[in-house]
Amino acid sequence: MRNLLALTATLATLTAPAAADDLMLGRELYADHCAACHGAQLEGAPDWQRPGPDGLFPAPPHDETGHTWHHGDGFLFAYTKHGGQAVLDDLGVAFTSAMPAFDGILSDDEIEAILAFIRSSWPPEMRAFQEARTAQESAP
Ligand code: HEC
Repeated sequence: MRNLLALTATLATLTAPAAADDLMLGRELYADHCAACHGAQLEGAPDWQRPGPDGLFPAPPHDETGHTWHHGDGFLFAYTKHGGQAVLDDLGVAFTSAMPAFDGILSDDEIEAILAFIRSSWPPEMRAFQEARTAQESAP
């Protein structure tokens, strides 16, 4: 899994900046697969900072009010493909995640398109911050 994170980080940096077509595709795929939990406008679930009755945290926003932009591309890709629990277990973080895995549901390219759409919603300084995180992630 650690190797997988490193590999996906490398793949993410090799990916060229998103073209307009990819952003359109990303927007559609986001609406179909992510919006139900993360909000139609990327705004997250109401009260996302507090655990629900089941003790699990609701889906955070993906816009600039959330923390998606604090993570590098490799992390975001792995989180979406393998689900929150697999990534957190791998990192040794004791947290129960309600973020499902999309492996077998979305292709790698489709996940990349969704992440490109999410990134496109951030102001330039957040994009720069997140690009730096991505670069740190893929450093040897
Ligand atoms: C069934 C509800 C649900 C769906 C559908 C869902 N998520 Fe999540 N997601 C969550 C929850 C709940 C969390 C917060 C718990 C956690 O962080 O593990 C989360 C967390 C995340 C995180 C980590 C936190 C962050 O902002 O960095 C990412 C990235 C993410 N989701 C991406 C996606 C993407 C992309 C899609 C669509 C392909 C998606 N999610 C669909 C429920 C969902």
